[in-house]
Amino acid sequence: MKIYEKILDIAKRRGIFYPSCEIYGGISGFYDYGAIGTRIKKNVEDLIRKAYLVEEYGNFTCSEIECPTLSIDSVWNASGHVKSFSDFTVECMACKEPFRADHLVEENLKISCDGMSAEQLTELIKNNNLKCKKCGGELNDVYNYNLMFRTEIAPGKNKRTGYMRPETAQSTYIAFKRLWEISRKKLPFGILQIGHSYRNEISPRQYIIRLREFTQAEMEFFIDPDDKYEYLNLKDDAAIKIMDKDDKISEISIKESHEQGIIKNKAIAYFLQKSVNLFVRMGINYQKLQLRQHKDSERAFYSKDTWDVEFMSELGRIEIVGVADRGNYDLTQHQNCSGESMEIFWNNKRFVPNVIEVAYGIDRPVYCIVESCYVEEMSKKGDERVYFKFPPEISPYVCVFPLMAKDGLPEKAGEVVDVLKRANLYVFYDKSGSIGRRYARADEIGVSYALTIDYDTLKDNTVTVRFRDTKEQRRVKIDELEKVVK
Ligand code: ATP
Ligand code: GLY
Repeated sequence: MKIYEKILDIAKRRGIFYPSCEIYGGISGFYDYGAIGTRIKKNVEDLIRKAYLVEEYGNFTCSEIECPTLSIDSVWNASGHVKSFSDFTVECMACKEPFRADHLVEENLKISCDGMSAEQLTELIKNNNLKCKKCGGELNDVYNYNLMFRTEIAPGKNKRTGYMRPETAQSTYIAFKRLWEISRKKLPFGILQIGHSYRNEISPRQYIIRLREFTQAEMEFFIDPDDKYEYLNLKDDAAIKIMDKDDKISEISIKESHEQGIIKNKAIAYFLQKSVNLFVRMGINYQKLQLRQHKDSERAFYSKDTWDVEFMSELGRIEIVGVADRGNYDLTQHQNCSGESMEIFWNNKRFVPNVIEVAYGIDRPVYCIVESCYVEEMSKKGDERVYFKFPPEISPYVCVFPLMAKDGLPEKAGEVVDVLKRANLYVFYDKSGSIGRRYARADEIGVSYALTIDYDTLKDNTVTVRFRDTKEQRRVKIDELEKVVK
C-alpha cells in the first residue's frame, strides 16, 4: 500500500477528510472535513491569520475582511476571468470523457507542459498517439474550458448572471475605495481574506488537492509602485531549490537569491520566505519544498511575475501558494469598467496602487502536513505504531483520559476538562478501553499531549502529561496545566 493510500484510509476512518455526498455515490471535487480534519484545517487557517494580522511586527498593517462568494458578471468581465480563466481540455471522441490536456501529456510523456499552447498540446497528443485513459479511444483537439461556475441571481426582471468566485482576491479589489478610507489613507497595507473559492476543474483528483470547492487565504498587499520595501527584512535562511522561468536551478537561500537577482522583487522574496517558514511551522517537510517561477507563457493574464512554493509529494508536484506581482491590472480594470476612480493621492502623487498577492490554498497544505507528518514506527518488541507527528499548533486537540472509569476518576477528569476549556483549549475526553489503546487512538490522529487522571491525582492534584513523539510522561499540577500545555 502506498503512503497516500494509508493516509486516506486513516483520514476516512478517523474523520480527517472523506468524499462528500457518499450516500449518493459521491461527486468528484468535493470533500468533507470530519471532526478531526476541521480542527486541523482551522489551525492552518489560524496560523496564516496570525502570521499576517499579529506577527508582522512594525512592518505593515494587515486586516482581515470577509466578502460574498457569489458576485455579478460585471466583476468577472472586468477582471478578465470570463474571457481568460480557463484550462486546456481534451475529450475522448468515443466515450466523451474529458481530461485536462496538460496533465494527460505530462503523465504520459513525463515532460513538463508549463507554458505550452493548445496547439502544441494537440500536436504532442497526435504525434505520440496518446489515447483516452478510460476506453482507449481517439482524443479530439485541445480547447480552452472556462472554470467558473455560472448561475442566476434573482428572478424575473431583476435576474442577473452571477459567478461563484474562483479566487477571493477580486472581492477584495472591488471594495478597494472603502478599504483605502478605512486604512486611514496610508500605504502600504495588507488585506487578508480566508474563504471558499470555486473552480469547475476538468478532472478533480487526488482527494483534497484538486477540488471544485476549496478554501483560499489570499493576502492582497497594496503598495506604491515606487516602493523599495526598505521595511521588509529578509532573514538568513537555509538553502532551498529554486527554479527560475528559464529552468535554471539554484540551491541557495531566498535572501541570496534576491541578492543575486533571481527573485528580483524584494516583496515577492519576502512573502516566499514568510510562506516557507509558515509551512515548516505547520509541519510540512522543508526538504520537499521548492520555489518555481512561472514561465512567461504560463503566467496568469493579470500577473507580471509569479512564484509558487511547491511540495514534492508522493502524488507529484503540488503548488501550495502562489506569490504574484499583479501590478495595478485589477484595480485599473475595475476603474475602467465601473467608472469609479481607484486613484489615490499618496507620496505627493496621484496613482492607482500596485498589488503583490500571496495566494494560499488551505486544503493542499492540509494534505502536505498530513503526508509530511505520517510516521510508521516499529518498537523493539516488534509492535507497529502509526501516527501523525503534527506540531502542537496543528494538533486537533488535547486528550483527557481517566485511568479507570470508576473510583471518582471520571469526575476528577471532568474537572480537568473544564480547566482546559476555560483556558480556551480544544479538549477530547475518552474513558473507554485500556489506557494503551486510548494513547494509540490519540497518536493515530496526531494529538500532541494526552493527560491521564489516576489515583495520585485524587491525592495531590497532579496529572500525567504524555508526549506523543517520545512517549515520555511528566507529572504536572492541575493549577499549572494551562501554562504547560500552552
Ligand atoms: P494548479 O496549477 O495546480 O491548478 P493554480 O495555479 O490554478 O493551481 P492558483 O490559481 O495560483 O492555483 O491558486 C492559488 C492557490 O489556491 C494554490 O496555490 C492552491 O493552494 C489553491 N488552489 C487552487 N486551485 C485549487 C483546487 N482546485 N483545489 C484546491 N486548492 C486549490
Ligand atoms: N488569486 C490568485 C489565484 O487564485 O489564482
